[in-house]
Amino acid sequence: MATIKRQEIAACLRAPRENWLVLDAVDSTNTNLKYLALEGAGDGTVLIANEQSAGRGRLGRSFQSKGGLGVYLSVLWRPQVPPQDLMALPALGAVAACRAVERVCGIEVQIKWPNDLVCRGKKLGGILTELVSDPNRGAAVIMGIGINVCHRQRDFDGEVADIASSLEAECGKPVSRSALAAALMEELDLLRADALETPQRWLEEYRGRCMTVGREVQLLSGEERRQAFALGVDDQYGLTVREADGTVQTVRAGEVSVRGMYGYAP
Ligand code: BTN
Repeated sequence: MATIKRQEIAACLRAPRENWLVLDAVDSTNTNLKYLALEGAGDGTVLIANEQSAGRGRLGRSFQSKGGLGVYLSVLWRPQVPPQDLMALPALGAVAACRAVERVCGIEVQIKWPNDLVCRGKKLGGILTELVSDPNRGAAVIMGIGINVCHRQRDFDGEVADIASSLEAECGKPVSRSALAAALMEELDLLRADALETPQRWLEEYRGRCMTVGREVQLLSGEERRQAFALGVDDQYGLTVREADGTVQTVRAGEVSVRGMYGYAP
């Protein structure tokens, strides 16, 4: 298994950066960073792991995180803003991740609402954003990004194999996990510095990248599946849909999951 080393990532950074750790194996970088947050880790701390034994995804799902194949990275932020201003962060994290992937691999990456990274209809990775309530220091946010980099199709287990792909499979050449980890840190730093100041610009980029809009989708909520057509993304990053009976409504991340009508992301 190829492990990425701190000095390899450092060599890929455009400028030296403090506050980041690389561990070989963890259960979940989000969980570990949460413990570090409660011990007082500072704003902008990043944790990168080679492997996760219990990588977590949105909506209680797991995220396959085999050693040496992907980039598994979490960042801790302590923004001094009202909680409603944090609602956009998961979507914005997807924009930052798309930018990082494009910088390193030169392939175009889109976003399946709300924040899956997609290329040619296959999932390349995803984002899990969690709030930590820290009684001593106020609320903190942990954003975890997982990206499939070197996987071949046989590296994915179970039904994930039908919907997932990796950067190397999509761009047909070797991709440096160290370069991607460095680019992710830099794009997340830019997001932290810029997005709360210029939210409209980030919203426009999100809308431009969101491949869900203009497609037939299935809204999954528990056991229920409803057919709808995705009309657009509202200013709070909700997905506005027209249901089969003509009703127009906006659904929020966390309430429903969206699938393409003919697979993961047609
Ligand atoms: C999803 O696809 O539903 C989100 C996947 C998020 C995976 C990343 S990997 C780094 C961080 N640690 C975790 O346990 N999950 C996130």
